[in-house]
Amino acid sequence: STRAYSNSTGPLLPPTYERLYNKYAEVRRVLGTQRLTLAEKILYSHLDNVEESLLSNTNNGRDIRGNANLKLRPDRVNMQDASAQMALLQFMSCNLPKTAIPASIHCDHLIVGERGADDDLAAGVKTNQEVFDFLESAAKKYGIDFWPPGAGIIHQTVLENYALPGLMMLGTDSHSPNAGGLSTITIGVGGADAVEALVGAPWELKAPKILGVKLTGRLNDWVSPKDLILHLAGLLTVRGGTGYIVEYFGPGVDTLSLTGMATACNMGAEIGATTSIFPYTEASSRYLKATRREQASRDAEVFQNFPGAGATEDAFFRFRADEGAQYDQLIEIDLSKLEPHINGPFTPDLATPLSQFKKTVQEERWPEKLSAGLIGSCTNSSYEDMTRVESLVREAEKAGLKPKADFYITPGSEQIRATLERDGTLETFTKAGGVLLSNACGPCIGQWKRHDGVEKGTRNAILTSYNRNFRGRNDGNPETMNFLASPEIVTAMAYAGSTTFNPMTDTLTTPSGAEFRFPPPRGLEGPRTPFEQGKQAFAVASQPPDPTVRVAISPSSERLALLEPFDPFPQSDLAGLRVLVKVAGKCTTDTISAAGPWLKYKGHLPNISANTLNTAVNAETGEVNVAYDYLASPSSPEKVTIPELARRWKERGQPWLVVAEHNYGEGSAREHAALQPRYLGARLIVCKSFARIHETNLKKQGVVPLTFADPADYERIAAGDEVATLGLYEMLQRGGEGDVRLEVTKRATGEVFEVPVKHTVSQDQAKFILAGSALNLLSRGG
Ligand code: F3S
Repeated sequence: STRAYSNSTGPLLPPTYERLYNKYAEVRRVLGTQRLTLAEKILYSHLDNVEESLLSNTNNGRDIRGNANLKLRPDRVNMQDASAQMALLQFMSCNLPKTAIPASIHCDHLIVGERGADDDLAAGVKTNQEVFDFLESAAKKYGIDFWPPGAGIIHQTVLENYALPGLMMLGTDSHSPNAGGLSTITIGVGGADAVEALVGAPWELKAPKILGVKLTGRLNDWVSPKDLILHLAGLLTVRGGTGYIVEYFGPGVDTLSLTGMATACNMGAEIGATTSIFPYTEASSRYLKATRREQASRDAEVFQNFPGAGATEDAFFRFRADEGAQYDQLIEIDLSKLEPHINGPFTPDLATPLSQFKKTVQEERWPEKLSAGLIGSCTNSSYEDMTRVESLVREAEKAGLKPKADFYITPGSEQIRATLERDGTLETFTKAGGVLLSNACGPCIGQWKRHDGVEKGTRNAILTSYNRNFRGRNDGNPETMNFLASPEIVTAMAYAGSTTFNPMTDTLTTPSGAEFRFPPPRGLEGPRTPFEQGKQAFAVASQPPDPTVRVAISPSSERLALLEPFDPFPQSDLAGLRVLVKVAGKCTTDTISAAGPWLKYKGHLPNISANTLNTAVNAETGEVNVAYDYLASPSSPEKVTIPELARRWKERGQPWLVVAEHNYGEGSAREHAALQPRYLGARLIVCKSFARIHETNLKKQGVVPLTFADPADYERIAAGDEVATLGLYEMLQRGGEGDVRLEVTKRATGEVFEVPVKHTVSQDQAKFILAGSALNLLSRGG
């Protein structure tokens, strides 16, 4: 239907844009003619109280970034099935009849990739029926959109259905920034943050700095937007984006497809960025139309030109940065000079240009045989990605070639799957021997049952077009070397079955003995006719809240358990804590709360806690998942697993802390990585630095994150040492003001010394740490 943009009283906007417009007018009133980036415009126009947020803690609104505490009112919340369980359990304990803002649930994480789409989906539904029933009943009760298993992966579905330029969304998944490709601000959060927004409380964020990425030029044949972000990850490392929003601009932006921009935003999570965003371009408008949102593209046009002729430039909210906007850091990338990249293994920032990869594989003695190539997922399953791959597969097929490595395809949504089926692309893949997996996360999140004889512990190499490649991420095998690349590179290398093959320069020998070189990939940005909607069984269920629905949880369930509130903070400093374990090296949220088989316990805190830190490296012994029970027997401590020791100490009422190195909690918004230690008795995490989302998640659950003022102090503390806090209680009472120190008593020698530590606790966070958790405070109406 078309919408009227004016009536007799003057011009009109659709309600979302009307709200945005009015808030933006307030922002302009407070900030005057200050030049703003796109991210700032959207973010500040979602403030609960514009004036208070922009003027307090800042120099009269002049240095907002890095200083102001923004209290935001997001437009909606999107949740995936693994994290939605805990978010909904937390929401339920607030006893509200419906969510305060629109929300959706996407059943994508629990389906295992094994034999192919149909079998896997049926098996996944069967094994997870209890969880899907719980999610569906909660969706019905509270009026949340429910996307059943098979409907697609959250980020793809959100991009296709909910993302609109200018919106602000929260997603309970770290790759939620995918929607930044369509000029939204979308931030990955834990369930506790999502619950704040769902109950209608403002959501707090320290105003991020802005990292500008200026794009010029145009990508060459073999290069894709994936290579842009793989290259950027190499430049910035996994910590380089921390505290920043990555905002792309410059003439190169106009050469990219919308889905390509989404891929780059998706993987901004790999550099630790708060989120990423692109301006609204012609490609954005084409994508809205292709996804049957003609009206939305018209609304965006009208909004950008509102209030019409005669108004001053500052009155217009354009979906791009103001001319002359400043960036806290600026990187320039000439797209024409970019080459394909392959990142990994085990970390997304180890970037190697394709031309150097063979040499690196040989020098590093990485496996030369490629065991599998996996394409698609939430990161790279667009029409453009898949048709570019299709062009390669067709050429190889003509030459009589088949992929030498196993080849898997994961469509990001039913819509994209059905469209690729209609247009013959899927048939091309399956004819070539590719295995089509269901529209779900599968191998991207460790849900992959391999039947190719690669046993756990066997060293092997795989290439994926996914976004993340921590050790064990895909198949639970720590010896699987997982490399990230564009779908085109993954596919061409799968044909070679080799990690040393360079499709741009090397040839393959066909069955007839001829030399075959892949021509550069060619694809279509989007389908010639709009996307198919796909099978009705996978359609979204949207409904108003129904208070008569009973949320399905069996009291004997092993997978779902109602939550017990955590204890409040004691009315004094903490004393008598013990160091459970001192962790060496990377400690990601996967390390703290592993995924894969453990995903099935996401809704059952006691059961999932048995995986806590089970891949952490003990700094004192180098062993993985080993801790020593110094309390039970100080002279000959028993060697146990880390979660086992935590469980024992919980039973004994012994509170504890973890000591760790840099970027603790890197990787994802997984709030279980905060909930589980809290449930088992952790009160502090002390490390050299934190990943942003995880640090916030810890505070929400009442665990205090502290960093060493002098990182060298890490060396002075050991497992079993006794720790007390000095000044922590006072700091919390004073709303985050004041210094904190630790008093450490060495287990081995009885020596006592003090360690100065730093914190980032805000006034509101201090309140919920004192209450025991954010939820304790919310459910008390605090
Ligand atoms: Fe995440 Fe991969 Fe699914 S990045 S949303 S697990 S496809």
